[in-house]
Amino acid sequence: MTNINTEKLSSARFAEATDAFVEVFTASVDFDQRMAAQDIEGSIAHATMLAHCGILTEQERDDIIRGLTQISAEIASGAFVWSIKQEDVHMNIEARLTDLIGIAGKKLHTGRSRNDQVATDIRLYMRHEINQISAQLTRLQHAILNLAEQHFDTIMPGFTHLQVAQPITFGHHLMAWFEMLSRDAERLADCLKRVNVLPLGAAALAGTSYPIDRYKTAELLGFDRPSANSLDSVSDRDFAIEFTAVGSLIMIHLSRFSEELILWSSAQFDFIDMPDAFCTGSSIMPQKKNPDVPELVRGKSGRVTGNLMSLLMLMKSQPLAYNKDNQEDKEPLFDTADTLINCLRAYADMIPHLRAKKDNMYNSAKRGFATATDLADYLVRKGMAFRDAHEAVGLAVRLGVDTGRDLSELSLEELQGFSALITADVFDYLTLEGSVAARKHIGGTAPETVKAAIATARLAM
Ligand code: ARG
Repeated sequence: MTNINTEKLSSARFAEATDAFVEVFTASVDFDQRMAAQDIEGSIAHATMLAHCGILTEQERDDIIRGLTQISAEIASGAFVWSIKQEDVHMNIEARLTDLIGIAGKKLHTGRSRNDQVATDIRLYMRHEINQISAQLTRLQHAILNLAEQHFDTIMPGFTHLQVAQPITFGHHLMAWFEMLSRDAERLADCLKRVNVLPLGAAALAGTSYPIDRYKTAELLGFDRPSANSLDSVSDRDFAIEFTAVGSLIMIHLSRFSEELILWSSAQFDFIDMPDAFCTGSSIMPQKKNPDVPELVRGKSGRVTGNLMSLLMLMKSQPLAYNKDNQEDKEPLFDTADTLINCLRAYADMIPHLRAKKDNMYNSAKRGFATATDLADYLVRKGMAFRDAHEAVGLAVRLGVDTGRDLSELSLEELQGFSALITADVFDYLTLEGSVAARKHIGGTAPETVKAAIATARLAM
């Protein structure tokens, strides 16, 4: 049986009131009130433009701005009463405006629809969030650069297949993280270009018959330009999908950093000491110090990629122009922005306090035959074909494994047993220091190259 709400009819068009459950079901005010500041900012610009074009009087514009300014203060102080009877943030604010200033409040919606209004609010909101996210991303990049600078010549094993591959410097590893984040920063900046376009003026879908000036509104709100097609303006959520895709990639990067920090802080690797303030203990095992922050960040990468899927599916097959489906865009977007800001912030706070256990990193590189490639390259330089060198070094590694020694710990006679080309200078190449120093081309792991990469990165920031 339909449960009729007799307090309010949705509009003169309706003979029956909205079903009470439907009223709750269709309301978005519980979550879209987060955009109140943007809604007010957009309305002030709209009213200013209407007065500029002679559609409202200056008195009406001033009354509207005064009323909206008061509402803004009421919201800030917590005095504002949000009501699901007014469905969403837009109608709550407009209803209160009419309470406060009367007839001029009812004129604010001239030449506008909630369809272009909501699209404008989201874009304003996202512009703000993208700037916050970029600021945290930059903080993290600086923290990584500082740490890389301390460790430009700290030797550690580099891995492929999570097996020791070749020696690298910790600074070089950190600069790989930096590169990933630099691309993220570029993608965010690029996404902002498509966010910063004004939909207002599209009205419901077809534009408006009032002589509005969309360039004026764009200028007042700091948008780069008005959107080019009214249908597209009210129905486009590409920018939201794009933002969440960029955000997903950021979270995937953070999940990879997290995985490494978690592995490195384990007793088995023991490469780093995580700051106590970013770890917790176990309620039962007294010895535990768990890397909670990286674990949680790794876990949160799932929700952001989930939000991306939600938004893609939200838009799939939607006909032009606005559909109520679009009300579902906000929660995944807000959640994505919150998650990104929090995770980047936690990382930017944590990285400066990471302590590298240099000796453990060094010894681990030494135990893993990390300079085997250097021995092969040495033989090639002395005239051996690479595949033969690969074979000879493979045999030398086997001797090392069998006798529990690194290549640099085999005797010259033992090494000469694998190739007569080997002479005493081989030990210059079998050391970890010699191995990293040799990789000094651009992009290589040599300490001097890493230093230069850090300097270049600092200049570009
Ligand atoms: N709350 C709505 C949303 O978030 C606002 C736009 C409503 N427009 C409409 N024609 N019902 O999308």
